Amino acid sequence: MAVDPLPSFPPGFLWGASTSAHQIEGAAHLRGQSVWDVFEARPGAIRDGSTAAVACDSFHRHREDVALLAGLGVNAYRFSVSWPRAGSPGGLEYYERLVDDLLAAGVRPVPTLFHWELPAGLDWLERDTAARFADHVERVAARLGDRVSTWITLNEPAEHTILGHALGVHAPGRTLMFDALPAAHHQLLAHGLAVRALRAAGATDVGIAASHSPTWPLSAREEDVAAAEFYDVLMNRTFSDPLLLGRYPDGLAELMPGDVDADLETVSERLDFYGVNYYAPSLVGAPTGENSAYGTLDVPAGIPFSLHEIEGRPKTHFGWPVVPEGLTETLTGLRGRYGDRLPPVVITENGCSYPGLDDQDRIAFLDSHLRALHRAIEEGVDVRGWFVWSLLDNYEWNEGYEQRFGLVHVDFDSPERTRTPKASYAWLRDVLRAQP
Ligand code: FCB
Repeated sequence: MAVDPLPSFPPGFLWGASTSAHQIEGAAHLRGQSVWDVFEARPGAIRDGSTAAVACDSFHRHREDVALLAGLGVNAYRFSVSWPRAGSPGGLEYYERLVDDLLAAGVRPVPTLFHWELPAGLDWLERDTAARFADHVERVAARLGDRVSTWITLNEPAEHTILGHALGVHAPGRTLMFDALPAAHHQLLAHGLAVRALRAAGATDVGIAASHSPTWPLSAREEDVAAAEFYDVLMNRTFSDPLLLGRYPDGLAELMPGDVDADLETVSERLDFYGVNYYAPSLVGAPTGENSAYGTLDVPAGIPFSLHEIEGRPKTHFGWPVVPEGLTETLTGLRGRYGDRLPPVVITENGCSYPGLDDQDRIAFLDSHLRALHRAIEEGVDVRGWFVWSLLDNYEWNEGYEQRFGLVHVDFDSPERTRTPKASYAWLRDVLRAQP
């Protein structure tokens, strides 16, 4: 446990916890199917063979979640609105109840409008999906817009494209490699249309949650540096350049479908904040021709880089290295690249998976990352908030229930999905109490 108190964060700072619909809600029988339900039924797709049909059962137990948030002392909660649920009878009413209960508890609702649960039958390779998303956003905003001011359009279009459409380890389980790029373009277009729809509905605080991983070359050798640059473009800049600069990195626009120049005007609609999800840096070298490991993800041979373990660092249960200064580097790097085009930043996800209730390793992780975040603020980055991933242990996509990211333990064997705060919950509560 750290002994020095954490530094003070700016007044008005958003302190939040994050979750997503598919990972916590359960009650799958009360909503339409998503691409994840279809994917989970594939033999071998999910490491522990589980599904998210019940998950944390937050659909029936959201009041417990709200009470946990209030007890933690956060002033914001990032959850997602499931697109298939929002389109099912009773779906929007559920989110209304959640929002009303959050507001009554003094917690700002921060809904994400797409966190990977695409309705089954829709496809990001189709341009029309972007327009369909804008319709979904309009419907949700019409229902909640009188009570919600802060919105997030998409969660991590990079992971959804690469893991879901290029490598096939996430839903919809496609292995298109570089032919997956149109799925990125259509999500970015969907984002821009959503920003416009939200503003038309009166929203004043609109952002996106983008993953960022600072990319370190394995060595100073030319081929390692080139491979790292390629990876950085693919994972980070394919998404942040169009959003913040209105253009794709060199050579990419040609690979995208449609009238790309016209679309980029939509994609780069001004944002009120830029959400950053940070977990770890990536150490990248020239291709070795072998599978390489990033945590538990195997990268197939035949792609123009290889991923390497960052040695000499503690690792989370997922195998991800603990590198707090990578968060400082991410933020100063974004400011350096985008300058005044970078809106105020909110850390929309940051956290780690570890088993156990006395999770001292999670406390050490969060403590060191909050200090690293503060360093970025001292270096002049305008950071307005930090959301921990996650409030609850939940359904960690293709990892099933094996990776526990929560400040609160969930007993997935109990019918009640019993929630038990971990040591890190008490620690963060005390940190927040000590903030101005
Ligand atoms: C992010 C996802 C989130 C969660 C964390 C661990 O990529 O946005 O849903 O799975 O990783």
